[in-house]
Amino acid sequence: MKIAVVTGASSGMGREFVLQLGYFYKNLDEIWVIARRRERLVELAEKSRVPLKIFDGDLQKKKVYKKLCEALKEEQPDIRMLVNSAGFGKSGAVTELAKEEFRAQPDMVDLNCRALTRMTLLCLPYMKKGSRIVNLASAAAFCPQPLFAVYAATKSYVLSFSRALGAELAYRGIRVTAVCPGPVDTEFFDVSGKLENPLKKLTMAQAPKVVHRALKDSRAGKAVSIYGVPMKAAYLGAKLVPHGPIIRSLYRER
Ligand SMILES: NC(=O)c1ccc[n+]([C@@H]2O[C@H](COP(=O)([O-])OP(=O)(O)OC[C@H]3O[C@@H](n4cnc5c(N)ncnc54)[C@H](OP(=O)(O)O)[C@@H]3O)[C@@H](O)[C@H]2O)c1
Repeated sequence: MKIAVVTGASSGMGREFVLQLGYFYKNLDEIWVIARRRERLVELAEKSRVPLKIFDGDLQKKKVYKKLCEALKEEQPDIRMLVNSAGFGKSGAVTELAKEEFRAQPDMVDLNCRALTRMTLLCLPYMKKGSRIVNLASAAAFCPQPLFAVYAATKSYVLSFSRALGAELAYRGIRVTAVCPGPVDTEFFDVSGKLENPLKKLTMAQAPKVVHRALKDSRAGKAVSIYGVPMKAAYLGAKLVPHGPIIRSLYRER
């Protein structure tokens, strides 16, 4: 049985991956979707071209991995694509954020880094030549971001992890793509806090376009997928300009 696995499928880009996967990969038998809001996944199942298998659960807790692990062992699927889209960001000074992070879950490092790594390790034994891994990093990975420090650091992890993993898996014919969008119009901002920077508002992209680009780049075997000219310029800029002045200018802006 050929399947795709998509985390964070209940909204935003994860949901969009589910909707577009059926057009990109005509031979998928099922898409296994993971998120906490079951009702959203049930609703998505009515719209998807490919039948969905729903794993509702919190990727910061053990239960959902156990359910997934059991299903993988039992059904021995051929995972053609893993999309790690579950993630969130919270803006604010590190000192302020630290108070919150220690008081309560969720925890950005835990979800954006640990859960993504765990999902990858869980799925890899079921992937073979021609399979794809798509990890949602961010343009925030390009350079440290004052007032978004923890989030940007988690996304640097995703970018670095994906590129290194891609090199390790090349001999098996498995391609890994890190998707690095700038701001995308999703529920992400309900959690992260509204965008105040007018430049970021101007560069806001639509999820269907970002996902379409990502699927095309993944199919082409690209290590990094960047949607739109502004973010491509940011990627290049962060490679050419020393990070010190960029960090200082980002912080002075606010
Ligand atoms: N939007 C942007 O501007 C932007 C830019 C660059 C990168 N990204 C990255 O792109 C990815 C997708 O973000 P999005 O914009 O599509 O945001 P979104 O609409 O808020 O979607 C986030 C998804 O993650 C799931 N999720 C959150 N916490 C979870 C948990 N503990 N366990 C399981 N699932 C969980 C949510 O589902 P439930 O709430 O149902 O669990 C939801 O499906 C994220 O990794 C984000 O960091 C976003």
